Amino acid sequence: MSRYIIEGGRPLEGCLRVKAAKNSVLPLLAASILTQEKVTLQNCPEISDIRNMLKILTSIGCVVTRDDEGNITIDSKDLYCGQIPCVLAKELRSSVFLMGPMLSRMKKAKISYPGGCEIGMRPIDIHLAGLRELGITIDEESGYLDCDASGAHSAQILLDLPSVGATENLIMASVFTKGVTVLRNCAKEPEIADLQNFLNAMGARVSGAGSSMIIIEGVEKLHGVTYTPIPDRIIAGTYMIAAAMCGGNITLEGVIPEHISSLIAKLSKTTCKIVCKNDKITIRSKGRLKSLERIDTMYYPGFPTDLQTQIMALQTISRGTSVIAENIFETRFKTVPQLIKMGADITVRDRTAVVRGVPGLHGAQVSATDLRGGASLVLAGLAAEGRTEVREIYHIDRGYEDMAPILSGLGANIIRQI
Ligand code: UD1
Repeated sequence: MSRYIIEGGRPLEGCLRVKAAKNSVLPLLAASILTQEKVTLQNCPEISDIRNMLKILTSIGCVVTRDDEGNITIDSKDLYCGQIPCVLAKELRSSVFLMGPMLSRMKKAKISYPGGCEIGMRPIDIHLAGLRELGITIDEESGYLDCDASGAHSAQILLDLPSVGATENLIMASVFTKGVTVLRNCAKEPEIADLQNFLNAMGARVSGAGSSMIIIEGVEKLHGVTYTPIPDRIIAGTYMIAAAMCGGNITLEGVIPEHISSLIAKLSKTTCKIVCKNDKITIRSKGRLKSLERIDTMYYPGFPTDLQTQIMALQTISRGTSVIAENIFETRFKTVPQLIKMGADITVRDRTAVVRGVPGLHGAQVSATDLRGGASLVLAGLAAEGRTEVREIYHIDRGYEDMAPILSGLGANIIRQI
């Protein structure tokens, strides 16, 4: 089993270029089957969530090619029967995104309940309720969702919660539906606007993404496109927090600073210096920072749940006490016992963690329990004194490309041991 071995205590210096956002690429790959023509997505990272999505697409007849520059081309001309194999769907929660496009393209889809990160219940009731309002019948037999869209129609749908995945799925399910579909209480995350832009570049008529109301006017056909998805705001945020913890001076290139304004606002309250210029963010830190009093995860543009464990790692070595409330997923404090092994002082009650900053962490043998939690252990290891071994890093591989070479390039002492 691969692991990261880290000798902590080195500052980070240098530049890194951020690739396309995993959470954009995944729905865009699913949406690529909405046309019979070829679709190319540029600048995609080499991560296991994307590899798994490509396996699923291949399993339903797509021809997938990928070059060394991270350009992925999907040719779904010969797509066959809409059934996603159970083992693949369990590997990747985003397999659920395929329901919308498969139903639009083939009027039928059969998919098992999806898997994904172990960070809470993650039901798909909002996806299913919305699809049913679009006239799609769903039979939930024997662990499979057997869906039929032959009677699909446009609808006015109010989502119970602004779910990112459900908003995306429903947009994709209604691109070909006659008439106008209106979705209310939609998620406003930048990845939704990216999906809208991608679909419109293929000839769809979607508007309103980024606001809580999205309007989809049905069209008859979509065409192929070459598209560059938005940069990964969570990757950018993770490396910014790494620099804040270790001290040093790093510049992230190819980013959209507005997408992480909530993190920038938080870090700017400490002694970190952050300068944003066009598509670059430079962060300078002199080491031990003042604690942030309170961090509440929230829907976009609030503080992202996907950066909660990383900012918690930062709080463990900050000066003072920080209260972190996790409002999106119910079990996203699984990394706390691992951070405590490294000397952190954290108490958790329900969805709130109280982090009392200590002067420093020490190296330890720890295990990733989920994707973002795993990344936060790497950050803790970089800032700790001595040797940290992070195990179960297949969780990290789901979303972080080349973490060891990137961090080594910034001056860290980290190797991946096979
Ligand atoms: C997406 C992101 C994930 C991020 C999350 C929140 C992708 C591939 N993943 O996940 O990285 O952490 O947004 O920003 O884009 N919910 C329901 N019923 C549903 C759907 C969701 O109750 O049918 C609840 C969830 O349990 C959760 C909340 O809604 O409490 C938000 O989930 P959602 O926005 O759907 O997250 P994902 O799309 O799964």
